[in-house]
Amino acid sequence: MSGGMNPPPRVFTDPAGLVDLTRERMIKSVREGRPGTAMSGWSRVLTDAQIEGVVDYIQDRLMPSVRSEKASPGRRLYAQNCSVCHGDRGDTAVWAQSGLNPAPRDFTSERARRELSLERMLFSVRYGRPETAMPAWSGRLTEEEILAVVNYVRDAIIFKGGGEVAETLEPKGAPVAGTPVTGAVAEAGVVDSLDLAAMREPMPQGLQGDPDWGMRFYLANCSVCHGKAGDGRGPRSEFIDPKPRNFRHPASQHKYNRPRLFDVIAKGVVRSEMPAWDKVLTPQEIANVGEYVFLSFISPGHREELDRLKNDSKP
Ligand code: HEC
Ligand code: HEC
Repeated sequence: MSGGMNPPPRVFTDPAGLVDLTRERMIKSVREGRPGTAMSGWSRVLTDAQIEGVVDYIQDRLMPSVRSEKASPGRRLYAQNCSVCHGDRGDTAVWAQSGLNPAPRDFTSERARRELSLERMLFSVRYGRPETAMPAWSGRLTEEEILAVVNYVRDAIIFKGGGEVAETLEPKGAPVAGTPVTGAVAEAGVVDSLDLAAMREPMPQGLQGDPDWGMRFYLANCSVCHGKAGDGRGPRSEFIDPKPRNFRHPASQHKYNRPRLFDVIAKGVVRSEMPAWDKVLTPQEIANVGEYVFLSFISPGHREELDRLKNDSKP
C-alpha cells in the first residue's frame, strides 16, 4: 500500500530508474512537477535559483560525493550510479536494506571480501544479477567506466587500499576451452564472460544435439519451471525458491555455452528444485535439450552483445 498515491513513487516500482536522477532531471521535476502524479510543480512558489538550491541541498545531503569535482572517475561513477542502492560508504543505503529483496550487497562485510573476486564483480556489474534489482551496466557505462567503478569499490571500500585491482578488462586466466564447470562450481558463483570461441564450442563427448527433439522435451518437461520463452516464469516458478534460471537474462547469456549447459543439465543444482537429468536422460538426449536451450535463449543475444562490445572498445 503506497499511501493512496497513484502511481506510487517511482523508487518502489522501478528501483533501477533511480539511477537516472541527474541534477538536470531533478531540477526539471521540482520545477514542473510530474504530470499525472501527486508531485506538483514549484515554479509558481519558488524562483529558479531557489529550486536549484533545493536540488543541490538534496544532492549534498543524499549524494555527497557526486558534486565533488576532485573525486576520481571511479568515485564519481559510484556516487552517480551505485550509492543510491549501495550507500555512500558501501554498506547499503538505508531505504534499500528493507526496500529491496534481496538487499544490495554490503561491500563492507567479511562475506563480500571473501566472495567478490575481481572477475565476479566485473561480470555482475556488466550483466546484472537475475531476479534482483542489480541492473546490467553494460550499455549504460562504457567498459572503461565499469572498470573504474569496480576498481573503486574494491580499493576504497572492500579492501580499503589493500585490494587487487585490474589494469585492463582482459580476463586473467581466460576460460580454458572445454573446461567443464560443474554444478557446484556454477553454484558458488564462479563466473566469467565467455568469448566468441567459447560460444562456438561443441557439446562434449563428440555429441551433436538435435534441437527439434530438444524443443519437444523442453516444452514437456522444463517449461513448467523455466517458461516457454526461457524467461524463468513457468507456471511452477511462483512457488519455487531459488527461482528457475531465466535463460534470457544477460548474466545467463554470458555464462553458458554448450559444454556448460550439458554439465548443469546433467548434474542439476544442489539445494534447489533443479533436477539432475542424467538420472533419466541419455547423454545424447541431454545434448538435444541443451542445444535447444542454447540456440533459442542463450546464443542470439550473446552474439549481438559481443559484437557491440567489440565495436565499443575500438578506438
Ligand atoms: C537499483 C539498486 C542498485 C544499483 C543502482 C546498483 N546495485 Fe549493485 N546490487 C544491488 C542488489 C539488490 C544486489 C544484490 C544482488 C544479489 O543478491 O545477487 C547488488 C549486488 C552487487 C554486487 C555483487 C554481485 C555479486 O556477484 O554477488 C556488486 C559487485 C554490485 N552490486 C556493484 C554495483 C555497482 C558497481 C553499481 C553502480 C555502477 C551498482 N551495483 C548499482 C542493487 C543495486
Ligand atoms: C521443478 C522445476 C525445474 C524444472 C522442471 C527444471 N528446472 Fe532447471 N532450474 C530450476 C531452478 C530452481 C534453477 C536455479 C537454481 C539456482 O539458481 O540455484 C534451475 C537452473 C537451471 C540451469 C542453470 C544451472 C546453473 O548452475 O546455473 C539450467 C541450465 C537449467 N535449469 C536447465 C533446465 C532444463 C534443460 C530443464 C529440463 C530438462 C530444467 N532445467 C528443468 C528448476 C527447474
